[in-house]
Amino acid sequence: MSTPAPHSTAENVIRFYYRGEIHTVDQAAPTRTVLQHLREDLHCTGSKEGCAEGDCGACTVVIGEQTADGVTLKSVNSCIQFLPTLDGKALYTVEDLKQDNGALHPVQQAMVECHGSQCGFCTPGFVMSLWDLYLKNDGGQAPACKSAGTAASACQPLQRKDIDIALSGNLCRCTGYRPIIDAAHRMGELPAVGFDREALQHALQPLQRDDIFVYQHDGQTFYAPRTLAQLVEVRAAKPDARILAGSTDVGLWVTKQMRDLGDIIYLGQVSELNAMVTRGGQLEIGAGVTLNDAYAEICKHYPELSEMWQRFASLPIRNAGTLGGNVANGSPIGDSPPWLIALGAQVVLRGPAGQRVMPLEALYLDYMKKDMQADEFVESVRIPLPHAGQRFRTYKLAKRFDQDISAVCAAFSVTLDGDQIRDIRIAFGGMAATPKRAALTEAALRGQVWNESVLETAVALLSDDYQPLSDMRASAEYRMKTSQNLLRRFWLETRIDAPLRGDQVNPFVCA
Ligand SMILES: Cc1cc2nc3c(=O)[nH]c(=O)nc-3n(C[C@H](O)[C@H](O)[C@H](O)COP(=O)(O)OP(=O)(O)OC[C@H]3O[C@@H](n4cnc5c(N)ncnc54)[C@H](O)[C@@H]3O)c2cc1C
Ligand code: FES
Ligand code: FES
Repeated sequence: MSTPAPHSTAENVIRFYYRGEIHTVDQAAPTRTVLQHLREDLHCTGSKEGCAEGDCGACTVVIGEQTADGVTLKSVNSCIQFLPTLDGKALYTVEDLKQDNGALHPVQQAMVECHGSQCGFCTPGFVMSLWDLYLKNDGGQAPACKSAGTAASACQPLQRKDIDIALSGNLCRCTGYRPIIDAAHRMGELPAVGFDREALQHALQPLQRDDIFVYQHDGQTFYAPRTLAQLVEVRAAKPDARILAGSTDVGLWVTKQMRDLGDIIYLGQVSELNAMVTRGGQLEIGAGVTLNDAYAEICKHYPELSEMWQRFASLPIRNAGTLGGNVANGSPIGDSPPWLIALGAQVVLRGPAGQRVMPLEALYLDYMKKDMQADEFVESVRIPLPHAGQRFRTYKLAKRFDQDISAVCAAFSVTLDGDQIRDIRIAFGGMAATPKRAALTEAALRGQVWNESVLETAVALLSDDYQPLSDMRASAEYRMKTSQNLLRRFWLETRIDAPLRGDQVNPFVCA
């Protein structure tokens, strides 16, 4: 195939909705970040750069996007999002919140009233995360208010957990957070300011493209196919190009490692990859579905994943990053592969020859080495739905509750027939060069009675399955000891006299 060409030179332009009009860019490198463009090109310096790696939230902006049902708005870290990914979308920064009459938005007013800002460096990021929360909750009220016909008097204030989730990606070194949380409660008490979603949908309509978007600058090309067929074609023609999904890993290769990515194939506009379908006893999640949407759907079937959902990075990272990216990256400390493997998930790869489907664990050959050809990509992940007698848990050990990478991540799924183990699947992250099953331990457990003496035999066997490393996150001894203790914890929570499911899990959003 010849390299897809832009439809015309006039179309070699990134277009997005910004400050009430269509904004165009044609002279930026494909890896120029949204934050760099805002601060250095547009001199719009409200959004700050703290870390340039998605950790501090000072750069938080809100992105609006057209969907089948209307528009969505979500907070993301502008420091790791590349400018061409904005094509067809809307960008909102802290400068956009002021009302037409010049008054502060209730989110900003609440921050002032509650003394939520001291040095002020983090404040624009907090304000944008709070604005995202405000938009999702009809003016800072509880989610129940979104139901049609709910009387305003029946609306409850936001719960603390909603606020904690919304602010999980924002760091402040001055305030101690309490005044900011007060502001989150206060914003819903102030006169509400609406947001016209229909007007946004109308504004986004002319920006939607029917065909692949190709943007070229200084020898580097950014491809944004719109269909699976286009993606297969461009991938086959450009096997060396870097696939880009949510940019929450790849973005840092540019901002921290100063890597030249070469050509880029962006998955965010491929409609088929954004689907989630339940059929044949499986939930299939397209590789373009964001982590937040994917976890929300999976949690309906496995509420035991609720704490992992909340503890996976932060909300802006989950709003951008994808489950497909977590799987394809194949990091030994990624949080999704262990539980996906424990649940018996399959990964669907696609290339010019069609699909290849394999158990997820088979994808991981060695440290960052995968059974994926240069012209293939991850199309979806298939997750079996819960079955009778199944007891499942996953645990994350990290130094912080929010926004931290695991030292150890464990996942266990046992299927019991009475007190006998019909099947068991155990997988760990952080214990080997890849996310890895505990094959020896599993084999020793199958067919046994799920009791404490069998458990202790299994605990001892874990050291045959894993020889972990020491690194900055944890020592090998800590990893082995905590893995053994997590297996004990799983047994304690799922022994036959324990409740089957649900009531020992974190009552986070899935509840
Ligand atoms: C602040 C911060 C906190 C984080 N916290 C966590 C955490 O708690 N737990 C955790 O597991 N991870 C964490 N991460 C890592 C990251 O968010 C996840 O790995 C995420 O799932 C990556 O998805 P993405 O869509 O952003 O992938 P990208 O960054 O776009 O891509 C990641 C890699 O996968 C490849 N790729 C992406 N999609 C496909 C596909 N469909 N087919 C083939 N290749 C593909 C890319 O080429 C690249 O090599 C964190 C990252 C940041 C910046
Ligand atoms: S600058 Fe810290 S998250 Fe973007
Ligand atoms: S007010 Fe100073 S960092 Fe938050």
